[in-house]
Amino acid sequence: MQTLLNLLKDGRFHSGQDLGAALGISRSAVWKQLQHLEAELGLSIHKVRGRGYQLAAPLTLLDSRTLSAIAPGWPVTVLDSVDSTNAEALRAIGQGNLAPFLVLAERQVSGRGRRGRKWVSPFAENLYYSLVLRIDGGMRQLEGLSLVVGLAVLQALRNFGVPGAGLKWPNDVLVGNKKIAGILLELVGDPADVCHVVLGIGVNVNMQQADGVDQQWTSIRLESGRCTDRNILVAELGKQLSAYIQRHQVDGFSALQAEWEANHLWQDRSVSLIAGSSHINGVVLGIDSQGALRLKVDGVEKVFSGGELSLRLRDDS
Ligand code: ATP
Ligand code: BTN
Repeated sequence: MQTLLNLLKDGRFHSGQDLGAALGISRSAVWKQLQHLEAELGLSIHKVRGRGYQLAAPLTLLDSRTLSAIAPGWPVTVLDSVDSTNAEALRAIGQGNLAPFLVLAERQVSGRGRRGRKWVSPFAENLYYSLVLRIDGGMRQLEGLSLVVGLAVLQALRNFGVPGAGLKWPNDVLVGNKKIAGILLELVGDPADVCHVVLGIGVNVNMQQADGVDQQWTSIRLESGRCTDRNILVAELGKQLSAYIQRHQVDGFSALQAEWEANHLWQDRSVSLIAGSSHINGVVLGIDSQGALRLKVDGVEKVFSGGELSLRLRDDS
């Protein structure tokens, strides 16, 4: 399927005959594959008698050869379609793949967010990125790690024309109150000894419309007005991640605490912290040296951590 797509991705017209000859298949087989591309990947293909077939817009696909040369030494797997790059990364860990390594996909059919929520992942528009690290330094190497990933994503976005991006505890990346990127860490093994962590990152890159996102969102394209080559963004994200992860490993999260707070969009805001069915109202004081949220609740500072917590702004904020 990728081969037909590779022929069409320039956005020019190609005749059925030329496509068939290039792929070594009949014109009717080309027609079937085109229908499959439209139905499966949601691509729009123009068909004009006498001229042939043309993608509604040119596509820049992820290119594993370019990426292998630019990612910071991490082996890269690029998939056309996958359930979830995090799920694929976890399977690869189970099969004994040596970390660090990177899994990318053009689309996810079961992209996942926190707490089983769905991450909308249309074909060739965004980044679906899972980096696997081996952690053998115990809990200290995990402390605040998801917040550190947020800082790396934020820097990459700023360098790609989204200066107004900021963070929301624990690991959302927003522009104003619109979500532009999400982060999901998944862990296997013994966190107190040796384990693997999958740093799952979804960045809305060229997406201009989306079905099924039930909150406000934006993309690099909508913010910057420019189309981004995702291969270059992968390189930039790799550069930022590797620098921030190294700093975190050497100096611990406390070295990044102030930088994280300086980029927290909801610092000093009145919020509700949702923990299961209970809501705790307070004012955001910041985070502690391990990345836990500090809230002022009824005049007293309280500290909250854990993967099941969500923040919402209160109406009077
Ligand atoms: P919180 O972490 O505070 O609960 P959240 O409401 O953003 O934040 P998450 O679990 O972090 O929830 O993210 C999943 C949510 O993200 C889904 O409920 C969906 O509304 C939204 N979402 C899904 N796909 C996208 C996307 N591509 N871009 C932006 N938002 C998305
Ligand atoms: C969130 O905000 O809830 C986290 C969203 C994380 C989405 C990314 S896309 C790449 C990786 N694979 C997944 O299935 N999820 C993460």
